[in-house]
Amino acid sequence: SVDPHTLVIFGASGDLAQRKLIPAVFDLYRGGYLPEKFALLGASRTNMTDEEFRDKVVFNNEHFDRKDCTDEQVAAYAEVLFYQDLASYDGEKDINNLGKRLKKLDKDHGVGSNYIFYLSTPPSLYSTIPPALAKAGLNQTKDGWSRLIVEKPFGYDLATAKQLNEDIQRYFEEDTIYRIDHYLGKETVQNLLVTRFANGFFEPLWNRNYIQSVQITAAETVGVGTRGGYYDGSGALRDMVQNHLLQVLAHVAMEPPIRADAKSIRGEKLKLFQSLRSIKRADVRNHVIRAQYTEGRTKGGDVVSYRDAEGVPEKSNTETYVGMKFFIDNWRWAGVPFFVRTGKCLPLKLTEVVITFKNPPQAIFSEFDNYAMSSDNRLIIRIQPDEGMALEFGMKVPGEGFRVKNVDMDFFYRDLTSNDVPDAYTRLLLDCMKGDPTLYARGDSVEAAWDFVEPILQAWKANEVPLFSYPAGTWGPLQSDALWSGVGDGWRNPS
Ligand code: BG6
Repeated sequence: SVDPHTLVIFGASGDLAQRKLIPAVFDLYRGGYLPEKFALLGASRTNMTDEEFRDKVVFNNEHFDRKDCTDEQVAAYAEVLFYQDLASYDGEKDINNLGKRLKKLDKDHGVGSNYIFYLSTPPSLYSTIPPALAKAGLNQTKDGWSRLIVEKPFGYDLATAKQLNEDIQRYFEEDTIYRIDHYLGKETVQNLLVTRFANGFFEPLWNRNYIQSVQITAAETVGVGTRGGYYDGSGALRDMVQNHLLQVLAHVAMEPPIRADAKSIRGEKLKLFQSLRSIKRADVRNHVIRAQYTEGRTKGGDVVSYRDAEGVPEKSNTETYVGMKFFIDNWRWAGVPFFVRTGKCLPLKLTEVVITFKNPPQAIFSEFDNYAMSSDNRLIIRIQPDEGMALEFGMKVPGEGFRVKNVDMDFFYRDLTSNDVPDAYTRLLLDCMKGDPTLYARGDSVEAAWDFVEPILQAWKANEVPLFSYPAGTWGPLQSDALWSGVGDGWRNPS
């Protein structure tokens, strides 16, 4: 059950609010998940009335999905949306006015003094809004609760992430801070835990004795588009690996939690991050490949090179691709190589995890289709799109002799439910409303993840390793294949 409350979105006139947040709250509204007494208060520096705000984010919002709902439902939802403009996000007068508005909403609509403050602003404000809220007494209300959702990026490197934790934790208790990572809201990422821990037969094999390698890919067909200004200060390692892909890795590799609750799951994730073998600065060149796309052709059409994209400096050294190999130094994974890669302008949009199992100890059959020396025993977990998983193994081809062919058993998530898979933001917002931080990143884990990528960032910053290139529309630089040398297998590049 969800208490009556007000959801305050700082940065409500921005892109994320329009594309994701306002539609996600609508999903909750029409699904009957919101409490009867609820208000959404948008706050930003644009001057707007409540009506203008409703027009912008509901009635004239192209991202607002009206499928399967009536005009009455949409209009009724718009009624619980309100707007407060601010001259500045952290000004004392502004936040006091915001506080007054919250009181008035309670008086008029009985929403109580429970607040969620969603920081969907430029990251420089993540440190300054919490003290302003505290000064106005909004961080701890006498007869309610107050929670803070912080959008990514959480820090720029280890030092800034630590500082940000400190700045926020001074005003909000850790269990009221919700650091969002939308990958944790994806059903298929959560399902990794169910696959492993609700089945008797996966987990006994899920270790160094039976697994040869693990690879995680997050490929995108799009380039940086109009986000060049933001992206160039970030790059693929910060934008995708430090947060999203290390979170996916944690679900693939962590030890079983004693319960499926926030403390146990987040505790195991921290241990996993702490077991990542640090890549020494001198080894970065052998373990991590960075690259930038040059002009080419993707599914979406012709693409100009990254350096020619809007908002990107001509001599930018920012990577749009990263491929890496590393190890986890713990009992379960000793010696198993893990490979992670992500890139813009690759041939397909796809996020997947591939678990490659070891071959049987003795090769009895010598005839394999496709000249393979043995069958591939792989579990392919499709995070998106086409959510599901496939198990690949060898079967006898009917007829003479023993000819072996790879086949797969394929499961599609869409067969499990006739409902649409809920959007990540919908699930995450609901969890915060319920006070459940399980699917949010904890402060210590975020720091541990930064700690792991820090030597890479330093080696790159000092230009100690080359920046490779790849034509848009290809699977990244050839140098990335060399990461697999001696491992067998290789990147799975589906067509
Ligand atoms: C965002 C990154 O966090 O995740 C984007 O900033 C990236 O650059 C996006 O495109 C990918 O998310 P998804 O859900 O489409 O895989």
